[in-house]
Amino acid sequence: MTDIILALDVSTGKDALSIAKKTAPFIDAIKIGYPLVLAAGLEIANQLSDEGLPLIADFKVADIPNTSRLIAEEVFSHGFSGIICHGFVGRDSVLACVETAHDHGGECYVVTEMSHPGAVDFFHGGIAERIAGLVCETNADGIIAPATRPERTSLLRTLIGTKKILSPGVGAQGGDPAAIASIVDGIIVGRAIYEAKDPGSAAEEYSRFRT
Ligand code: C5P
Repeated sequence: MTDIILALDVSTGKDALSIAKKTAPFIDAIKIGYPLVLAAGLEIANQLSDEGLPLIADFKVADIPNTSRLIAEEVFSHGFSGIICHGFVGRDSVLACVETAHDHGGECYVVTEMSHPGAVDFFHGGIAERIAGLVCETNADGIIAPATRPERTSLLRTLIGTKKILSPGVGAQGGDPAAIASIVDGIIVGRAIYEAKDPGSAAEEYSRFRT
């Protein structure tokens, strides 16, 4: 199965709710992070939950285990079903997010490699592969891997088996959904939908890649 996940990085709650309503029939989950939460507050999650879609908190948590756990507790008490954390912080910090997610019946995804050009400065040279190993050891639910580098995402697939891959970088960052859809479980699309003249139609276009 390949889901379409809307990255709702808009900067007002009003825009977020309006775009969520227009796109809801064509998407499978909504991902929100710092841009929207800093603008509208974490309570926006409660309002978005009216659409009945899973909500993923993209705070790319990267802290000591205690702080990571406190962040994850806050996330899951606001109705999110998933959280994204960084992997480079190490096993104990990742485990804090994974355990908190699972305590709440939620999921934890770990960033193995980012989608922007600068990601190769640090994530290549074995780091992403080591993070993929950590994902298996900590029983995390999946990884975030780049649609902009399908060959890297394919390689990471061989390291994590059937765990889920959610893949950002489609559209505005140049990633081609056709090249990535068959190897991932979710395509994350932000600007190509929420900046479109008609976000509902743009989401419908991407829904062709749903399986
Ligand atoms: O607008 P665009 O489709 O580029 O949005 C991509 C979304 O995915 C953003 O929310 C971005 O923060 C997030 N993301 C990413 N690359 C990663 C991890 C998350 O682009 N490796």
